[in-house]
Amino acid sequence: MKAAVLNEQPGELIIENLTIDKPAPGEVLIQVVGAGLCHSDLHFMEGIFRTTLPMVMGHESAGIVQAVGEGVTYVKPGDHVVACLSIFCGQCHQCLSGHPYRCANPKATSRDKGAPSRLTRSDGSPVDQMARLGGFAEEMLVHQNGIVKVTEDMPLDKACLIGCGVTTGFGAAVRTAKVEVGSTVCVIGAGGIGLAAIQGARVAGANKIVVVDLSTSKLETAGIMGATHFVNASEVDDVVAAVREITGGGVDYSFEAIGRAQTVRQAFDMLNVGGTATVIGMVPSKDVVELRGIDFLQEKKIQGSMMGSNQFRTDIPRMIDMYLNGRLLLDEMVSKTIQLEEINEGYELMKAGEVARTVVTF
Ligand SMILES: NC(=O)c1ccc[n+]([C@@H]2O[C@H](COP(=O)([O-])OP(=O)(O)OC[C@H]3O[C@@H](n4cnc5c(N)ncnc54)[C@H](O)[C@@H]3O)[C@@H](O)[C@H]2O)c1
Ligand SMILES: [Zn+2]
Ligand SMILES: [Zn+2]
Repeated sequence: MKAAVLNEQPGELIIENLTIDKPAPGEVLIQVVGAGLCHSDLHFMEGIFRTTLPMVMGHESAGIVQAVGEGVTYVKPGDHVVACLSIFCGQCHQCLSGHPYRCANPKATSRDKGAPSRLTRSDGSPVDQMARLGGFAEEMLVHQNGIVKVTEDMPLDKACLIGCGVTTGFGAAVRTAKVEVGSTVCVIGAGGIGLAAIQGARVAGANKIVVVDLSTSKLETAGIMGATHFVNASEVDDVVAAVREITGGGVDYSFEAIGRAQTVRQAFDMLNVGGTATVIGMVPSKDVVELRGIDFLQEKKIQGSMMGSNQFRTDIPRMIDMYLNGRLLLDEMVSKTIQLEEINEGYELMKAGEVARTVVTF
């Protein structure tokens, strides 16, 4: 089967023909229908974060079950599923205390060291899977606890977006930060994640939702998602001052959806007294974020959000229902649909900052 492989860091993706194993006990083989381009893959392609190589990239995919391994009762061939990298064991302290997205026992849902690789090249050498999914491929072989069954009414080329970007952004607003009715919000960065955070804030009942981005087209899309006020960071000298002016003193909730120390600092500095900044972006591990200590006296808070603090087996079917009822917008988030062979061009468009989400269809 065809898959997009990262062989060096930094590096582009190469389309290769790989062999995919049969499902082992607990595993599910999926025919991929749609795969979204998330910025996290780009961080690895640019070498900002290190990983094992070679690796099939992609972690935002949806498809149809083809075969299941021994002991799999959750799905059967023909079922429609969305994959999520928050693969849970269901038995560790994190899983059992209501935080399955922080599962502390990934071994329980992975193949044993020394077992045959799920993916191999024709010479038998192993190929890894991004986030244990490897979604930029015609087929995915994953643990059953990394998928959720969804209704067949849901188009899979839209459902894939919920696998990472929408779960992460929407969840950051409603689950991690718990945005309150009538509050003021600012989202910095209006890519797939930021646009979903804006939607989460809208659904949660926020009053003012300010969006900050460098691109006019992104700001326009953010308006469709529910943003009420707009700051083009390339046109103002001081983003924090602009947001403070719009909100009359700062926001109750800010979200950083880019992954830069400088914008994390902005997210904290634009808070009103008692406000909370939530960092969603993946900030390079070598970068340090500096904050003014005195701000803590005003009960300002800063926190991270991992995959929107999701419980995806229940969250994703709900979000799909919201899409089918017109409450969650996904069609408007897709700027472009491409073929797997065009994946590097898709990432070039993301770097240029002109597309919301690009989706590979198979
Ligand atoms: N926390 C998690 O679990 C999690 C999950 C998925 C993705 N992420 C991370 O979230 C971040 C966003 O991902 P994405 O797919 O939405 O990326 P994206 O590239 O689609 O969007 C980023 C946006 O930020 C804007 N931007 C860039 N620099 C800016 C600046 N200085 N000021 C204002 N706007 C600026 C760009 O124009 C773009 O619209 C990435 O770091 C990604 O790795 C984190
Ligand atoms: Zn992602
Ligand atoms: Zn666990």
